[in-house]
Formats: sequence, structure tokens, C-alpha cells
Amino acid sequence: MIIAIDGPTASGKGTLSKKLAAHFGLPHLDTGLLYRAVGRQVIVNGGDPDHPEQALEAVAFPDALLDDPVLRNEATGSLASRASVHPAVRQALFERQRAFALQDGGAVLDGRDIGTVIAPDADVKLFITASVASRAVRRFKEMEAKGVSITLAEIEADLERRDARDTGRKDAPLMAAPDAVTIDTSELGIEDAFAAALAAVEAAT
Ligand code: C5P
Repeated sequence: MIIAIDGPTASGKGTLSKKLAAHFGLPHLDTGLLYRAVGRQVIVNGGDPDHPEQALEAVAFPDALLDDPVLRNEATGSLASRASVHPAVRQALFERQRAFALQDGGAVLDGRDIGTVIAPDADVKLFITASVASRAVRRFKEMEAKGVSITLAEIEADLERRDARDTGRKDAPLMAAPDAVTIDTSELGIEDAFAAALAAVEAAT
């Protein structure tokens, strides 16, 4: 069984993907981490993520980078969003994601283009979304807990910039596959969102 999960930043898709993978005993790939590693590696190389060739060179990041906590911060998320615009970067990461999706026994993948590009043949496609306001509040609480000093308005502005870049790019824009089940988590806690996702998976399989 292949479960494809897409959605914008801070929609809850990461948490739901991990919970679904644990529930069904499937391996999980957070594909955003691959783009984050590219964004980070561009900087390590002294390059510019907006430059197509410099971004492409950074696809050769060392695998150990995937475990570096620096990948999780907001600055790396923005670099990832800039580097992921280039079609050659997306193409270079395609096979790795496709092979993960097709491994024996199935897999859960989450990202922006899993149901549309990486695994259009997935058994289940979920599109996890939420209002900018509710995503910003969630992100704000996470940052506060980590002791990061940032305002809610700054977080909202960053989310809107990322959404605009991810949905507006020409190649593999963020969008729901026509056959995806959309779950809006604006008003849902984790357990209710998980129940909705589980019901969608069970209905589709
Ligand atoms: O999901 P996450 O916030 O970690 O992703 C970081 C950035 O990587 C996104 O804003 C998006 O631009 C890019 N990305 C993508 N395609 C994916 C996963 C992430 O373009 N499948």
C-alpha cells in the first residue's frame, strides 16, 4: 500500500504521516527533508539557492546531512522552498523518492507533489490543509517552546511567502491530486485529524 500525503507547511501532514506509518507498520519518507538538505548544502557550498546550477550541484549532499538538526529550522525551510523551484533539482530527486514509494510492502511519503508527480498511482492520497492563521499559531507555539524569539506576524508572513512560492511554481506546484481526500485540520486536534486520515485510508483500501 502506498499512502501519498501532500499539503502546505505546518498543516499537520508530518505528524499525520508518522502516525499513519506507525499504525500500518510502513516505512515513511519526509520528502521535505531532501529539499531542505539541498537548500542547506547550497549554503555550505557558498552558493545561491536561486541559481539553478548551484542548486543542482547541492543535490549531491552527504546522506549524514539528513540527520542534522539545522535542517529543521525556518531558515532552511525557506532555502528549500527556493531551491525546489528548479525543475532539474526536482528531477534529480525524483528516482530516490519513486524507489522509496515502490519498495516491497509499500510506504508512506509526504511532501508537496507526492500524489501528483512522485506516486500518482498511490492507493491513498490525502491532502492535508489548514488556514494560515491556525498554521501560524501552531508554528508559533513550537518556536516559543524552543525559545526562539519571533512574532506571530513574522511567522504568518513567512508561511504566506512559502505557500505562494510552492503553489505558484511551474514545475510540480503544491496542489491536491484530483482523487485526493482533503482534510482541513484548522479546527482539529491531532487525534481527530488522525481519525479522519485513518477513515480516509480505510475507505480507499
Ligand atoms: O515540508 P517541508 O516544509 O519540510 O518542505 C520544505 C520545502 O521543500 C517546501 O516549502 C517546498 O518548497 C519543498 N518541497 C517540495 N516538494 C516536496 C517536499 C518539499 O517542493 N515534495
